[in-house]
Amino acid sequence: MALIFDSHSHYDNSQFDGDRDEVLCSLKSKGVGLVLLAGCSIERSVFISELTKKYDFVFGSAGVHPIDCIDEPLPYLDRLEQLFKENKKLVAVGEIGLDNHYDNSPPELQKKFFIEQLELAKKLDKPVIIHSREATADMLDILKEYKPKGVVHCFSGSVETARQILDLGLYIGFTGVVTFKNAAKSKKSAEFVPLDRLLIETDCPYMAPVPFRGERCDSSMLSSVAEVLAEIKGVSAEEIIETTYNNAIKVYEMEGLI
Ligand code: NI
Repeated sequence: MALIFDSHSHYDNSQFDGDRDEVLCSLKSKGVGLVLLAGCSIERSVFISELTKKYDFVFGSAGVHPIDCIDEPLPYLDRLEQLFKENKKLVAVGEIGLDNHYDNSPPELQKKFFIEQLELAKKLDKPVIIHSREATADMLDILKEYKPKGVVHCFSGSVETARQILDLGLYIGFTGVVTFKNAAKSKKSAEFVPLDRLLIETDCPYMAPVPFRGERCDSSMLSSVAEVLAEIKGVSAEEIIETTYNNAIKVYEMEGLI
């Protein structure tokens, strides 16, 4: 049976403080082979780095999320670079990007952090994990200028946006949102994205797919995301799981690490 690679999760989140070890250790018996934990701040990236050392199937990324950049002490870039030098299991810079949903993080500061981290990724020759919320035009402009390799995660945008992301050579990650009844736009975009550029992710503890909505999400629930994508793409769920597993290894350049 093919194993799931959850390409974007947040097991460092406090919602897992009570039973993190139990949840992570149960994943293997539930069909999950690998997970990537995405960093949102220096503090959380340090914690993720520790977790990758504790579990062989856990990999991580390190970066500052657009909402968290306002709280980040300087010089954050040096600390990030240090983390990458210390731990090869930190395989990507992220999540980084733009988020206009909340008004507590100034757009110009977000842009500065986004661009600085894109440049760091280029310097370190690492892929990036892009977060974009209500910022599509600005995000695409910056990606076109800096041309990183990597993935746009938690995608729920239009076919036209997906087309532009794919033209830049990037991968696209889908969460449980694609299983929601009212997610017609996501489903259309998932239909458009070719199998060899598709990733699946939980973004857990958030975004639990149908039929688990409202529950705390974990990587084993991705089997229902795979089932919905299989239906959309006219292939088996097994094929979705196997292909997205291999895609994640490719985009995160993990061939020599597993
Ligand atoms: Ni995330």
